[in-house]
Amino acid sequence: MSGPRKLYVKSYGCQMNVYDSHRMADLLAPEGFVETAAPEDADLIVLNTCHIREKAAEKVYSELGRVAKLKQDAARDGRRVTVAVAGCVAQAEGQEIIRRAPAVDLVVGPQSYHRLPDLLARAEREHRRGERVVATEFPIEDKFAFLTPPTTSATRARGVTAFVTVQEGCDRFCTFCVVPYTRGAEVSRPAATIIAEVRHLADAGVREVTLIGQNVNAYHGDGPDGRTWTLAQLLERVAEVPGIARLRYTTSHPRDVDDGLIAVHRDLPQLAPQLHLPVQSGSDRVLAAMNRRHTGADYLRVIERLRAARPDLALTSDFIVGFPGETEADFGDTLRIVDEVGYSGAFSFKYSARPGTPAASADDQVAEDVKSERLARLQDAINRHHAAFNAGCRGMTFDVLLEKPGRLPGQLTGRSPYLQPVQVMADTHLIGEMVAVTVTDIGTNSLFGALTAPGRQEMKPALAALGA
Ligand code: SAH
Ligand code: SF4
Ligand code: F3S
Repeated sequence: MSGPRKLYVKSYGCQMNVYDSHRMADLLAPEGFVETAAPEDADLIVLNTCHIREKAAEKVYSELGRVAKLKQDAARDGRRVTVAVAGCVAQAEGQEIIRRAPAVDLVVGPQSYHRLPDLLARAEREHRRGERVVATEFPIEDKFAFLTPPTTSATRARGVTAFVTVQEGCDRFCTFCVVPYTRGAEVSRPAATIIAEVRHLADAGVREVTLIGQNVNAYHGDGPDGRTWTLAQLLERVAEVPGIARLRYTTSHPRDVDDGLIAVHRDLPQLAPQLHLPVQSGSDRVLAAMNRRHTGADYLRVIERLRAARPDLALTSDFIVGFPGETEADFGDTLRIVDEVGYSGAFSFKYSARPGTPAASADDQVAEDVKSERLARLQDAINRHHAAFNAGCRGMTFDVLLEKPGRLPGQLTGRSPYLQPVQVMADTHLIGEMVAVTVTDIGTNSLFGALTAPGRQEMKPALAALGA
């Protein structure tokens, strides 16, 4: 019964949850917890949850059913398993989780997890009295100041790419979205702490960093010069950290793309030519009802300016179909914008009414079968552009950051500048290297490529024309 206690963390939802899950593991490491990939071995199970759509939230309860069974099995062997629910479902549902899932000992929101060691000790005390702990307040202290930096070996084990939260929360209040309620008001971290974190990552072998935030291009953190920095300024500074070969940022709002951000797409060689810029709908009427505060034409103008700065920029988006009141004509506008932009890929979702958001109480909800039918048509269009974009890469030579062993023996998997997975025959000692690869074949989800002989590293013509 001795030895380190084991921690199993499962992340749902967005990249920020992945980041937060790592931070929770880092906070618990000094408490003697080591991570395990096997939930049945764990002494502490943390589910880091997502509330964005109904399906995502319900997944948590089915997982909690399985976890309750593990907990019972362990109890029969005289072993106590503690169960914590973290993330956005924790924030949105709080006490309700305890009511629906009696196996849960602790509910902890995204703005309280820095107190995890204390909260676990409290949960242990409460357990003896038959009580559970719910921590979903938005404390005034800066969560990031209380986090434990990862050890170099923990960072190494997580691979050569990393996310860094630079901004959290959102003040935009799109009428469909729970994020402003679950993550709270928009807060930017000071630039100096972000740069220090990136330095640590680079020293531990990380080569590619993605700066993340719910509305990342609204970043306005304190700069080391005492002024407020924009995301563009932050990107410029992060690009100077030795060892960082490639930079990305996500997720951006079209309204917060400023001139400086467009300029870094032209001027910053480390910044990958790929941008996730969700439009949600192509219909001005729907965009207004969503409170997106831009039109389809505004969005296309931003893209035109970005492509003028970086002609081969690959664009991706998120779409919602069946937002309340969406007509067939509105949906036609969405299909049109997909064709106009020529996305390299996109995520698309049926509108899901979320408790407490304005759109949920609209009386013109769209029927489920209409949503399904529109989603299928939209996904056909997206897949067509995705396939065309990938097909246009055949014969191209570009830099691939080799990340990990691939599917077949002797193969490594990496990412292209455009974020496509690329399978390359290469020796494992090349993991962590940025290598020139020539694309030889196109799969459904991956590209296949071969290492290029040195001296042949130039890029083939721009991808932007590939839209159609
Ligand atoms: N921070 C991200 C949003 C994360 S949610 C951003 O601002 O882009 C990711 C995507 O989920 C959104 O872009 C939207 O397309 C989708 N989404 C959010 N709420 C939804 C809802 N109620 N129903 C269906 N899709 C939703
Ligand atoms: Fe949600 Fe993004 Fe809109 Fe913010 S900008 S409310 S996170 S969809
Ligand atoms: Fe989901 Fe919360 Fe991220 S709702 S998408 S985990 S911000």
